[in-house]
Amino acid sequence: MDQLIIDGGRPLRGSVRMSGSKNAALPILIATLLTDEPCTVDNVPVLLRDLRTTFRLLESLGKSVEISGSQVRVTAHGSLKTQAPYEIVKQMRASVLAAGPLLARFGLVRVPIPGGCAIGLRPIDIHLKGFAALGAREIADSGDIILSAPRLRAGRVRFKFPSVGATEHLMMAAAAVPGATVIENAAREPEIEDLAVFLGRLGAKVRGAGTARIEVRGERTLHGAVHAVIPDRIETGTFMLAAAAATGRLTLLGAEPRHLKAVTAKMRAAGAKIDESAGSMTVSMSGRPRPVAIATAPHPGFPTDLQAPWLAWMCRASGRSRVTETVFENRFLHAAELRRMGAHIAVTGSEALVSGIERLSGAPIMASDIRAGAALLVAGLAAGGRTTISRVYHIDRGYERVEVKLRGAGARIRRVKA
Ligand code: EPZ
Repeated sequence: MDQLIIDGGRPLRGSVRMSGSKNAALPILIATLLTDEPCTVDNVPVLLRDLRTTFRLLESLGKSVEISGSQVRVTAHGSLKTQAPYEIVKQMRASVLAAGPLLARFGLVRVPIPGGCAIGLRPIDIHLKGFAALGAREIADSGDIILSAPRLRAGRVRFKFPSVGATEHLMMAAAAVPGATVIENAAREPEIEDLAVFLGRLGAKVRGAGTARIEVRGERTLHGAVHAVIPDRIETGTFMLAAAAATGRLTLLGAEPRHLKAVTAKMRAAGAKIDESAGSMTVSMSGRPRPVAIATAPHPGFPTDLQAPWLAWMCRASGRSRVTETVFENRFLHAAELRRMGAHIAVTGSEALVSGIERLSGAPIMASDIRAGAALLVAGLAAGGRTTISRVYHIDRGYERVEVKLRGAGARIRRVKA
């Protein structure tokens, strides 16, 4: 198993190119199940483990996937299967999103119920309620859910919480159902807008993506499309926080400043200088940050996926700050690892209180999920001495060639086989 070894305390400099968004690419690739015609998706972070899992999912359902650089071409050969393998769903929860398109097209689908994960229970009740509103019947059968609806019908659904996955899932299914489906209290993340653009290219009419009310007018037969995925705002935010924590001046090429407004505002309040232009962002920082409180929230709030790296930065703030997690129940596993580096963090329920110290010290630490891993990278880059991160496969789910990108920015980081 790989480890990352960081000799920290060196400022980051120069520029790094950001990849396409993992969380936009996953649903878009799964949405290719809506058509039998070829689809070409560009700017896909193909090196990520979650993308590899998505390709295997599509292949297991009967699609062919060809990869060339960051371009992915998905074609059909013969008829699709309507049963997703547990072995794939258990590796990546987002696989469950295959159910919607298959249900809408074939009237019946069987998917394993994804279990919880390190960051929370993560049920799919909001998805299922949405399908019920479109006329689907649900049968539980030894760990699987069977959804059946000989003809899914357009309908109206109001989510109790703006779930990203449920919004994407319903949008995909509705794209293959004639008539207007309305989703209220929909998630507003940029990845939803990107999916809406893709569904539009397949032939559906989607209005309101990026707002809390989305209307999808579907078509029974959708066609192929060419699309380029938006830049990864979470990768960008992670590198912004790494540059701020390690200090220096780093330019993120291919970044989209519009998607990171909440993060930029908080980082500026803490003392970072951030310059934005079309297609790039530059972060400059010297010294310790001012303590600034954040609370995560659905978009346009502060993203839960950047809570962990933010907390890592605040470990060296010049005072006490509070971090509140409102989206997931159990997303502070990184706090224990950061404490091993000398951080003063007290976690009570959904709140972490951080008392900043001058500098963290390198230590052997372990990633527990993608973004906890990102926090450890940020901490290791800022710390004095050597940090060894194990369970790097978590980081590899969300960051392409992270050590190569960071080395390009002047970090001393290498990957070793342990
Ligand atoms: C997406 O997960 C992202 N994943 C997550 O990124 C991200 O953290 C999350 O949105 C929030 O922004 C992908 O896009 C593949 P949710 P998702 O449904 O869709 C509860 C990363 O690090 N909920 O908005 O699963 C749920 O338990 C990953 O890249 C229900 O209660 O998120 C959670 O507490 C991690 N019932 C909250 O809502 C449901 O039916 C938010 O979940 C669905 C969700």
